[in-house]
Amino acid sequence: MNRIAFVNNLRLKFPGEESLLFRDLSLSLYQGEKVLFLGPSGCGKSTLLQVLSGLIPQAVEVPIKAEEIQVPDSWGFVFQDPDTQFCMPYVDEEMAFVLENLQVPREQMPEKIVHYLNMVGLHFEEIHRSIQTLSQGMKQRLALASILL
Ligand SMILES: Nc1ncnc2c1ncn2[C@@H]1O[C@H](COP(=O)(O)OP(=O)(O)OP(=O)(O)O)[C@@H](O)[C@H]1O
Ligand SMILES: [Mg+2]
Repeated sequence: MNRIAFVNNLRLKFPGEESLLFRDLSLSLYQGEKVLFLGPSGCGKSTLLQVLSGLIPQAVEVPIKAEEIQVPDSWGFVFQDPDTQFCMPYVDEEMAFVLENLQVPREQMPEKIVHYLNMVGLHFEEIHRSIQTLSQGMKQRLALASILL
């Protein structure tokens, strides 16, 4: 099987904390796998995902040590709190922002937006809808649709 992400003997300590969050943690993830991280609140699930995507230490400066780290060539990250991820106030604008970055012509946008919204189970009569009017679960779906897009 094709290994897409890997870390060997990871050590991580947040500045100011007394103890290590990870001590010699090793993990491999393979193409096509669906992996569930299960553990008590604060045990480090989100932090581990940030390391495996490269967000730590590239975007979030946290000192880490590892014998080896392999980050996937292509990855998407849905934040635990979707509100921290949205850049725009409306559903269609949020997704158009992604498409603009991908240089998709404007006239092709609505069809793609609806397609990806439907893919995550969102069926809006009007896609120009305020994100703040969505339920938390709907926001999580919207965040997922943006990442898939
Ligand atoms: N930026 C940060 N600075 C300092 N400590 C942090 C930071 N981010 C996370 N932590 C600490 O690291 C530990 C792991 O946090 P993390 O968010 O990875 O937990 P989690 O397993 O995802 O928890 P939850 O199930 O509540 O989402 C916690 O003790 C948290 O307080
Ligand atoms: Mg978390």
